[in-house]
Amino acid sequence: MPHAAAPSVDVFTVRTAGVGAAVVDTLATLLSYEELARAARFVRSVDRDTFVIARALVRTTLSAYGPTPPRDWQFETNAHGCPFVVAPQAGTPRLTFNLSHTTGLVALAVTRGRLVGVDVERVDRVVREDVAGRHFAPEEVRDLRALPPDAQARAFFEYWTLKEAYIKARGMGLAIPLADFAFVLAPPAAPTIRFVDGFDDRPDRWQFWQAWPTAEHRLALAVTREGPDHAVPVTLTETSPEALVA
Ligand SMILES: CC(C)(COP(=O)(O)OP(=O)(O)OC[C@H]1O[C@@H](n2cnc3c(N)ncnc32)[C@H](O)[C@@H]1OP(=O)(O)O)[C@@H](O)C(=O)NCCC(=O)NCCS
Repeated sequence: MPHAAAPSVDVFTVRTAGVGAAVVDTLATLLSYEELARAARFVRSVDRDTFVIARALVRTTLSAYGPTPPRDWQFETNAHGCPFVVAPQAGTPRLTFNLSHTTGLVALAVTRGRLVGVDVERVDRVVREDVAGRHFAPEEVRDLRALPPDAQARAFFEYWTLKEAYIKARGMGLAIPLADFAFVLAPPAAPTIRFVDGFDDRPDRWQFWQAWPTAEHRLALAVTREGPDHAVPVTLTETSPEALVA
């Protein structure tokens, strides 16, 4: 159970494969009319179910931090599509969150008073286009191509998830050019970020964190911190759709 006073980032994941229709239908009762209308527009039932599970995860999780019931949370989106909480009930802390979904997994990051972004990807999926060559920063492409060929496909998702987590934490998505910032990977140290000259941000205000929530899914988290020597605690909890219903 998250603690409202802790300055941590709490990450929650849910595996979405094989969830029963009855569970999804019950979770759908937690959603707003707008969310249900959006769910109804998905062509594939797997995408609809993932959306419902993700939004139910957001609602039930946020309710663990304050007195607002799952159905009562209200959200708006910024100009880039980033959802945020509006008008929480009295006594509810100022929560920020970010959501990511991919085949088989949903991830949610929740914190207070920080910018936060999360991304999950399946590392065994095939990316046909040369996304790195076309969109990544030159030094990232160089570091990626310096790896043995059979390691490059998997390493690509290290950069991909980190870059997505950063642009999502900024709430701007692809409005930030992906070549304007570069990740430096030196495991087991945490990844660090560099910006092109004139970029409106500072590397030392960011903490990056990575996890393997399953053997196939890579997760990256970006969160603002108080300073270069400040470490934001991160928790990772797997939950189930059935537990969200309870
Ligand atoms: C929309 C975008 C923010 C994330 O897209 P994505 O990685 O495909 O999807 P994810 O599942 O990780 O994230 C989607 C969720 O992020 C949230 N989101 C939407 N816009 C957002 C934004 N501008 N900032 C932060 N979060 C955003 C939403 O909650 C959304 O889920 P919902 O619509 O069900 O509520 C954007 O970065 C994008 O379109 N990326 C395309 C992927 C790509 O080409 N990446 C290049 C390699 S780095």
